[in-house]
Amino acid sequence: MNPTGIRGAECPVTMRSPYDDPELYDALFESFDFDLAYYTALARRTGGPVLDVGCGTGRLLLRLARLGLVVDGWEPSGAMAARLRQKALASGVMPRLFVGALESMPDTPRYGLVFCAFNAFAHNLTAAAQLGLLRRMRACLVDGGCVAIGAGHPPLAEFASPPQEPVLELEVEWPEKQCHLRLFDRRRLDPVALTQHSEMTVLSLAADGAVIARHDSETVLRWTFQPEFELLLHAAGYRGWRIMGGYGGEPRTSDAQPLLVEAW
Ligand SMILES: C[S@@+](CC[C@H](N)C(=O)[O-])C[C@H]1O[C@@H](n2cnc3c(N)ncnc32)[C@H](O)[C@@H]1O
Repeated sequence: MNPTGIRGAECPVTMRSPYDDPELYDALFESFDFDLAYYTALARRTGGPVLDVGCGTGRLLLRLARLGLVVDGWEPSGAMAARLRQKALASGVMPRLFVGALESMPDTPRYGLVFCAFNAFAHNLTAAAQLGLLRRMRACLVDGGCVAIGAGHPPLAEFASPPQEPVLELEVEWPEKQCHLRLFDRRRLDPVALTQHSEMTVLSLAADGAVIARHDSETVLRWTFQPEFELLLHAAGYRGWRIMGGYGGEPRTSDAQPLLVEAW
């Protein structure tokens, strides 16, 4: 039995990146605030300005800007950045956005805090891409500034025996469309390359439970475990760092915890 309950071609199917549909992305993730207090406190401590790297539709950027912090953003996806702009306009803030390839990101010292949140770093699939981003983030820092990266990875045991069926990851209401959303993720974890190929299916359900739309997308992530992260930081020229297991500064004692990096 397929746990998604999807039968045949009952409804329209698309297969693309989760970032091609920023409205749906926001319906699923915009309300997440597990890391907001952490980045807010860090931004205040470093004094800003702040650069949000892989800022998406502005989940954090806009909240920080509404608090009066100066926050710029870099985002590779034009669609995600366009939605951020719309939302910024609606809420009366005007962040400066850099959109496109890594070369479009600033590379001169301007920021007190440069952060990359919610696993955006895992979109860098090669060592060259990881180092390129880390070097660019470091180049943006003023003296005494700090880089923060909110990452993590599936526990090691999951690489050995990944779930065979799609996993129900998230269920939320989508009041604007009067429907309920269910996000399923079918993951293929590669224990050699440390990559995750995710095929995601979001079902829109009417009040009576009928599937009214289905949105398919896929993405590949490259997970970075803690010792490799430290090696990358060293190779990218950072002089010091601190690795935590949670947004309250907890020590990292389990591979199921987040991997939160502060570096300078
Ligand atoms: C899961 S979303 C997180 C968005 C935002 N950082 C947040 O916390 O809500 C991942 C974002 O990373 C962006 N991204 C794609 N490639 C990237 C890369 N190589 N480095 C950093 N971010 C990347 C995506 O376009 C997407 O907006």
